[in-house]
Order: sequence, then structure tokens, then C-alpha cells
Amino acid sequence: MSGLPASRARGNHVAIIGGTGLTELEGLSVHGEDQVDTPWGAPSGPVVRGDFNGQPVLFLARHGHPHRIPPHQVNYRANLWALREAGAGRIIGVNAVGGITPAMGPARIAIPHQLIDYTWGRGSTFFEQRDNIPLEGVTHIDFTHPYDDSLRQALLAAAARRQVMAVDYGVYGATQGPRLETAAEVARLERDGCDLIGMTGMPEAALAAELGLPYACLALSVNWAAGKSDHIITMEEIQQAIDEGMTGVRAILEEVIPA
Ligand code: HPA
Repeated sequence: MSGLPASRARGNHVAIIGGTGLTELEGLSVHGEDQVDTPWGAPSGPVVRGDFNGQPVLFLARHGHPHRIPPHQVNYRANLWALREAGAGRIIGVNAVGGITPAMGPARIAIPHQLIDYTWGRGSTFFEQRDNIPLEGVTHIDFTHPYDDSLRQALLAAAARRQVMAVDYGVYGATQGPRLETAAEVARLERDGCDLIGMTGMPEAALAAELGLPYACLALSVNWAAGKSDHIITMEEIQQAIDEGMTGVRAILEEVIPA
């Protein structure tokens, strides 16, 4: 990775970035917490080290614990950097999403295969000139396939073994938030080909790719996207879908480790 400051060699731990509804990993027997200092500032919280299902795992709460950092203010660069420093070899991002297309209703789990980025103004690359970071050249990573296919297949196989229904495709539209979308925005996202919408899928996936870390998204639909049901979106509805769907998410995580 020319141009990136030297770091410890790539580790081999599975790292989980927990999103809304997953600020703690139940069943993780915690061995310690790393407060990692990064050239990009502070991550959302400590990298928690532990054993999950008998295997070493790293866990980071994307929004902090308790949940307090909104999607557009998450320091994605610091989070990814900290996970790599802590020894992550591959990353599973757990993301709450809104469902657009018919298969993606509330409490449904999906493993997206593509994404479209609509976010703006976020620190979205490591390849940037900064006083504390010498950049040797301009780098454009290939991002044709934003998610690692073998990690995706491992998640789907884990879901099948635990008899958790998981949709094996999905175009993830990453929106800026923190507000939800208008009905017209969702209609446009659907015309663009998006199946799901979330606020945290990018730049996380691209930053993982810049670091050469295989990354996949485990998405839990927590509501029909705006205009896709006959009612407005309420926090009660979202919480209900989280409660219903997180059991399946946890089962997949238990089963997929070691990925
Ligand atoms: N839109 C964007 N992000 C989301 C949604 C949504 O409807 N639900 C959960 N995250």
C-alpha cells in the first residue's frame, strides 16, 4: 500500500463493527480493550478483544457505547485504522437499513453484493495529504466489487446452517442521514437500483478496501423505507424490528466465526 503510513502487518482476527442495535456483543467473553490512537483521530471507542464462540474476535461499536455518535460524525477512518492496528484480518460490518425492494422488509437480513454511495463530506479515504501523514503518490483502488465474496458466502452459509433466512443479494444505497429520506428520494434510489438504504455503509467499505481488508456487510432491515408502506417511520417500529431481527444476526455471527 504505497503512501499509507507503516502499520503492523495484517492480523488474522475477525473484527465485527456493530451498528444500531448491536453496541455490545452478547456472548463475547472480554479479555481486554485497546484504546488505539490513530493518525486520523479517535475511533468511536475502544477495540474490544475477546472470545466469541471460542474464537478470538475484535469488536468495535460504530456509534460508541452507549450509542451516541450519529452516522455522519462517525470517524470511519479512525475505526478502520484502529481495527487493523489491533490485528483485524477481515471485517464484518453490521448495519441497520431500511428496505426498498419487496424482499427487504422489516426484520429481514441481507448480505448486499453492491453499493451506491450518496454520502458527502465524510473523511472517506486514507489517500489524502495531511501534515502528519506523508503521501507518496495518488492511489485509486479498484472497488468494482465492494464486498468480499468469500466473506459474503461464509455469512450466507452460516445463516443457512442456523436456519436464519438471509437474502443473498442487495444493492446498498448509502445516504448521509441522520434524517431519514423523503418518499421521492427513496423512489430515486429504487430507480438507481438500490434494494436497501443505510447511513453507515460508506465510507466504511471503501476504507476497508484501501487497507486491503476483506469486508462484508450483514444488513438488518429495520423499517420499510420512506413511502414504501402506508405509514410514517417510527422509532417504535424500528426498535421492534431490531428486537426481532437481532437474534438472527447474532446466530449468524456465532456460526461464521472463525470465518
Ligand atoms: N434510511 C436510511 N438509513 C436507515 C433506514 C432508512 O430508512 N433505516 C435504518 N437505517
